[in-house]
Amino acid sequence: MTRTKTGISGLDELIGGGLVEGSTILVSGGAGSGKTIFGLQFLYNGVAKYDEPGVFVTIETRPRDLRLEAQQFGWDLEELEKKNALIIVDAASSKAGLPTSEKYALRRGFDVSTLAEEIYRAVEDSKAKRLVIDCISALGMKFNEPSEVRSELFRISALLRELEVTSLLISETIDPETHSRAGVEQFVTQGLISLNLFEDSGTLKRNLLVWKMRQTSHSLKKHTFTIGKNGIEIKSRKSSTTKSR
Ligand SMILES: Nc1ncnc2c1ncn2[C@@H]1O[C@H](COP(=O)(O)OP(=O)(O)O)[C@@H](O)[C@H]1O
Ligand SMILES: [Mg+2]
Repeated sequence: MTRTKTGISGLDELIGGGLVEGSTILVSGGAGSGKTIFGLQFLYNGVAKYDEPGVFVTIETRPRDLRLEAQQFGWDLEELEKKNALIIVDAASSKAGLPTSEKYALRRGFDVSTLAEEIYRAVEDSKAKRLVIDCISALGMKFNEPSEVRSELFRISALLRELEVTSLLISETIDPETHSRAGVEQFVTQGLISLNLFEDSGTLKRNLLVWKMRQTSHSLKKHTFTIGKNGIEIKSRKSSTTKSR
């Protein structure tokens, strides 16, 4: 089985060497838990370390802000975009009802069909191997019924499967135990990683937990991580693994 290395320091060894190539992984966490940085780092490493192009679909953050966020870690997205090694799909402007001059954007308004078409075009143009959608909770807000959210997610998952990209679906949680707003996202993915930001004696701390990773013997422990000048770094510790479930 081929693995797609995240290149995030300390993570790949917790998950059998990397994500299963072509799989769809849910990355959940509360506001400020590091989800967007995680997604950016996965794509940036893809190009810089493994020569794999990527697509970042941004639904809540406008591309300009995303480029600025990346820049503080020394990740020059524009340089990659010039080579078509990275494509940012701007779904945020249309969702906010604002105009955009981005090359890849949802110009006909925000809906899942238009989003799917633009994802398809971006993956074809960049020959992407990796993709991030940040965040799918923003898709769910339009639908009232969990069954509706689920069927839209199935559509997107099927498209990602067809495109054979290794994908991260980012999900913003309110209750850390539920993993997603609609409580359904985890059923359409092959893996689930949660990022937690919590208070401990007056200090905010971060940890990461791999809840599910199909076909993988993975760590079952919480792993402390930091966000520093190189992005996310998982602190090493002796971890025990289990047989795959
Ligand atoms: N340069 C940096 N150095 C250290 N921590 C940072 C830096 N930039 C952002 N952060 C931390 O990352 C958080 C934002 O991460 P982000 O991935 O945008 O969160 P999320 O997408 O989960 O809401 C900030 O609240 C801050 O705590
Ligand atoms: Mg974010």
